[in-house]
Amino acid sequence: MNIEVLLTPAEQAGLRERDLRDTTCVVFDVLRATSTMAEALANGAEAIAPVCEIAEAVALREAHPDWLLAGERNGVRISAALSGGPDFDLGNSPREFTRETVAGRTLVMTTTNGTRALQACAGAARILTGAFVNLLALQSALSAARARDILLVCAGTGTACASEDVLCAGAVVDALASREPSVRLSDAAIVARAYYRDEAPVGGREERIAHGANGRRLLGLGELAQDVEHCGSFDLHDVVCEMGKDGFVRLGGAEK
Ligand code: MLT
Repeated sequence: MNIEVLLTPAEQAGLRERDLRDTTCVVFDVLRATSTMAEALANGAEAIAPVCEIAEAVALREAHPDWLLAGERNGVRISAALSGGPDFDLGNSPREFTRETVAGRTLVMTTTNGTRALQACAGAARILTGAFVNLLALQSALSAARARDILLVCAGTGTACASEDVLCAGAVVDALASREPSVRLSDAAIVARAYYRDEAPVGGREERIAHGANGRRLLGLGELAQDVEHCGSFDLHDVVCEMGKDGFVRLGGAEK
């Protein structure tokens, strides 16, 4: 098994030139897109269409009036003034994606980094999402699948590395490498694992991910501050989230 990690969003551009047909990609946007996707699917959402641009999301909603529009810019829910269309139904706070709101619904979601990172992996053998809230389920699915090449993609914040994404990717590297000693790690995978091992014993759920720019920003956004503790919680959901060839993220996990 080979495990690589992309630490920064800039590295995602290189994926366009790369043959990912035999690679399993996992995208981490702990604060908050991939935590929110796990929450939505655990609460019965049918499927999530992750798109890069607000205009794409609005066009999909026009074609499918029953779909819910979700996403953020600068951390907050997208307004009609920004979308040039409707106010979005939901932002990107996992706590908004309750069973009452999302069960049985298809969502179209656009976020600053997370949905872009998912799109950057197009063409991969499999594309999973990773977060602390469903970490154990993800680790078990990856162990069971025994893929030869695994690429962990940290979505980042804007153009920069996000420490909470590296921490979560490091947890996955650590779990897989501990189970299979012959695993080959890229330098970035070694760094992510070391960061996780260093940080893992420290603090509680919020402290785990509050150090980075994203955590600090959310802590300053009033009601959204609670998302930091929520997204730092381990294993709230026993779900694996996977983007299919049709571009929708659904409950997944079985090797295709
Ligand atoms: C992103 O995709 O960049 C994030 O999920 C941002 C956020 O939730 O504020």
